[in-house]
Amino acid sequence: MIILGIETSCDETSAGIVEGVTGEEGPRTLKLLSNVVSSSLPLHAKTGGIVPEIAAREQVRFIIPVIKKAIEQCSNSTINDIDAIAVTYGPGLLGSLLVGVETAKTLSFVFNKPLIPTNHLIGHVYANFIGEIHNSKFIIQNSAADIKFPLIALIVSGGHTDLVYMKKHGSIKWLGGTRDDAAGEAFDKIGRLLNLPYPGGPAIEKAALSGNSEKFKFPRPMLDSNDFDFSFSGLKTAVLREISTIEQLNNRTIANICASVQQAITDILVNKTLKAATQFKVKSILLGGGVAANQKLRDGLKSSIINNELSMKLFIPEKFLCTDNGAMIAAAAFFTSKAVPFDKVNTNPQLYFA
Ligand code: KG4
Ligand code: ZN
Repeated sequence: MIILGIETSCDETSAGIVEGVTGEEGPRTLKLLSNVVSSSLPLHAKTGGIVPEIAAREQVRFIIPVIKKAIEQCSNSTINDIDAIAVTYGPGLLGSLLVGVETAKTLSFVFNKPLIPTNHLIGHVYANFIGEIHNSKFIIQNSAADIKFPLIALIVSGGHTDLVYMKKHGSIKWLGGTRDDAAGEAFDKIGRLLNLPYPGGPAIEKAALSGNSEKFKFPRPMLDSNDFDFSFSGLKTAVLREISTIEQLNNRTIANICASVQQAITDILVNKTLKAATQFKVKSILLGGGVAANQKLRDGLKSSIINNELSMKLFIPEKFLCTDNGAMIAAAAFFTSKAVPFDKVNTNPQLYFA
């Protein structure tokens, strides 16, 4: 089954195509055929954050060329070769979601293709199921069948930090999430405090490479709380307070702050994820969302599993599949979602784990 996934929930306009193969015992492998991403990020760099109106206008410009390119990259296929269309219907920015949803509805109507509305957050989890990519640094996942249930997934994006438990495909139990800022949001806001380019996550990771993570002792809010919730706004305030005591921020100090912040965020995310994985006795841990592209977090989770001699397997998508993309939406649709008549599909900016 070949699925076209369309993703326009934030500033990216993306279309990806996956081919899912179903075996006797259900879905087995998911092959990535194409993935095209056009981002309006440079336009938001000046304002240090996403301007929803600008993002949506750019998405109107790019949605058709991006879909066309994704189909062309797929061995010169045409839209007739697509079996179903999946689209992100929430959560996200209303204007941005509308562009993807209305385009997908139109394609579904004109070409008579089933339409599968898909939750963006679940898309981040299912990025892990896209196999047949064999060049990952430390995790080689060659088949969706390698991921065993039950599992814990940590979703860390610009707007969300959530821990979920999955007993099987499509069965999602929310365990906890952030009470204030998301991890990505913390990276972005701290990046802004340090005058780093937007988005803060990749900029902080880059600056941290030459920094010492021991130089600043930033707090790890809720590290030992008896739940699976997170809180990152205190970390941002601590950085703000630290900066206000420094007369001149030089590159070395910025690097040390970045390394220390990155370590604090990694410690919190790793600690809570392993706590959930141990308590729920899962077989797999999955990571997803833009912050999952952070190498410190990827390495931190891996080494903690090894150091604690835990038996569960860790899965992390390739970095290009961590940030928003259409392929992950197609992947989630293949495993979990059902087609809905196009005239019944609407955006849901507040959608969470339904
Ligand atoms: O999942 P995503 O692409 O979009 C949302 O659904 O929000 O995540 C974007 C977030 C931003 O906050 C960005 O700063 C963060 O992911 N991010 C990173 C890295 N790459 C992106 N954070 C830390 N390290 C990175 N390498
Ligand atoms: Zn996302």
